Amino acid sequence: MANPELGTMVARRRTFAIVSHPDAGKTTLTEKLLFFGGAIQTVGAVRARRASRHAVSDWMQMEQERGISVTTSVMTFQFPMPGAPASDPPIDINLLDTPGHADFGEDTYRVLTAVDCALMVIDGAKGVESRTQKLIEICRLRDTPVITFINKLDRECLDPLELLDDVESKLGITCVPMTWPIGMGKGFRGVYDLVNNRLHLFRALDGTKDTEAPADGIAVSGVGDPQLDALLGDHVDQFRADIELLEGAAPAYDHEAFLAGKQSPLLFGSAMNNFGVRELLQTYVRLAPPPQNRSAVTGSAANNPPPPGEPVPSREVETTEDHFTGFVFKIQANMDPKHRDRMAFLRICSGRFDRGMKAYHCRLQREVNLGNATMFFAKNREIVENAYAGDIIGIPNHGILKIGDTLTDGELLRFTGIPSFAPEIFRRVQLKSPLKAKALAKGLGQLAEEGAIQVFKMILGGEFIVGVVGQLQLEVMKHRLLAEYSVDADYEAVDFSTARWVTALTEDRRKEDVRKNMEKFRRRNEANLGHDAHGDLAHLAPNKWNLAKVEERFPDVRFQATREHT
Ligand code: G4P
Repeated sequence: MANPELGTMVARRRTFAIVSHPDAGKTTLTEKLLFFGGAIQTVGAVRARRASRHAVSDWMQMEQERGISVTTSVMTFQFPMPGAPASDPPIDINLLDTPGHADFGEDTYRVLTAVDCALMVIDGAKGVESRTQKLIEICRLRDTPVITFINKLDRECLDPLELLDDVESKLGITCVPMTWPIGMGKGFRGVYDLVNNRLHLFRALDGTKDTEAPADGIAVSGVGDPQLDALLGDHVDQFRADIELLEGAAPAYDHEAFLAGKQSPLLFGSAMNNFGVRELLQTYVRLAPPPQNRSAVTGSAANNPPPPGEPVPSREVETTEDHFTGFVFKIQANMDPKHRDRMAFLRICSGRFDRGMKAYHCRLQREVNLGNATMFFAKNREIVENAYAGDIIGIPNHGILKIGDTLTDGELLRFTGIPSFAPEIFRRVQLKSPLKAKALAKGLGQLAEEGAIQVFKMILGGEFIVGVVGQLQLEVMKHRLLAEYSVDADYEAVDFSTARWVTALTEDRRKEDVRKNMEKFRRRNEANLGHDAHGDLAHLAPNKWNLAKVEERFPDVRFQATREHT
């Protein structure tokens, strides 16, 4: 079934996202990656792009005011495969931008379901920070491979061996250094490329102006090479001692372990100084996997999940098969407020997208037009002619596409693994005018479909409780309800801090008991139960302790912190 033309196109594609804690240097690194990928000629363009985008949408002004990126976008650029003949086409790279601010969550999380590899940026002075830890947990849901970049070596950092330890103990990932730093801060001399035995001497750049690429480094015969004594001076002994320690402590690189998300190749550098960025890109295109096959539920089960306990028909969708497939992982609303259009971001999983084609919308079971799909470059949006597995296309639509939707060339399918995440902040929505109740229900429903927020309609009383992962989502929601649905709403604190989707744990022989226990669970917990926008039942609890108690009392009920869209 594999199509050789598609095989070639897929093999030279890479799709990734950067995960990091705010301020670790993600924006700076993104710019430098685009610069080395030839997509931008001057640094500062990423920030400029953000600024210009804000102008098109009212609520996005919030981003600008707060100096953060609320939305996620896609950037494409190219980079040659190291060692390949110059006549070979370069690798096509899709970089999915993830909003990095601590305030913002679910959107970021879901972007990670659409990538084949993650680039983890760590501030060398701080080690693994909380947001990074959370994002890596999400990567783990799909065993996404991770490449690590320790940034800001031009500043005083933690000891490099300590940093390796930190990643291993906090994230459970073993690091395999591809480069090793020599000195740090004021005494930063450069990095040693352990794979190619080259020394890259550090030269500080003015990060805002000087975009000159650093030289290829100095070839040496190994860490014992006497050239290093002259080049590194006082640092050479420490360097050799580190490498000796490293040889005992770090495992050899194992590609399978990397692909399984268990080992992470690690590089050191300074994004601001363009230092180590090219080596990072070279390592990335060499090691990161091309777009991967994905499993999907097939046939009518795609829209109507069989009862719990019954087998779910599924198949592996191969990236190189002729059939076009893809799934929506993000909806961005109102790029143009005049048209109320929403951009659905579709990750292509197989086949080829051709401009003007129609696709089969599996949930609605009808054809949709993908005529004006766009692709994103560093600076511009362009109409797409062709796209392949791993590519992301933007489809403007008026709400017919929602997160988790699968598009195909006719087969009924649903890609799995695009979850909702349990919100952490809850509010009761209060209307200023009761006449707007209908508009509020519509607005909340649509915002929930986009994945911007989660809405629970409580069983008792039917009131709406909204749940978000980050505080900022509440502000965005309030703003959008007013701007788009003319609903003036406010929030009231509620005594919930955690939500779990609940289903019955079934085992055939005890079906009847389980049903009865589920009934009992519902009766006893009515005040805490509500349905989300997909009609799935969720239990809202005041705190983790309380949740644990309920879990203990009802062992036949399954409580899940993530929920796949059905
Ligand atoms: P983020 O997107 O992860 O939030 O981080 P961002 O790139 O905005 O970087 C956060 C701060 O760290 C910025 O400083 C940036 O210049 C600085 N930075 C990034 N890479 C390096 C590096 O390799 N070395 C050093 N020393 N600093 C680095 P800022 O003062 O907050 O902003 P700006 O005025 O420099 O733009």
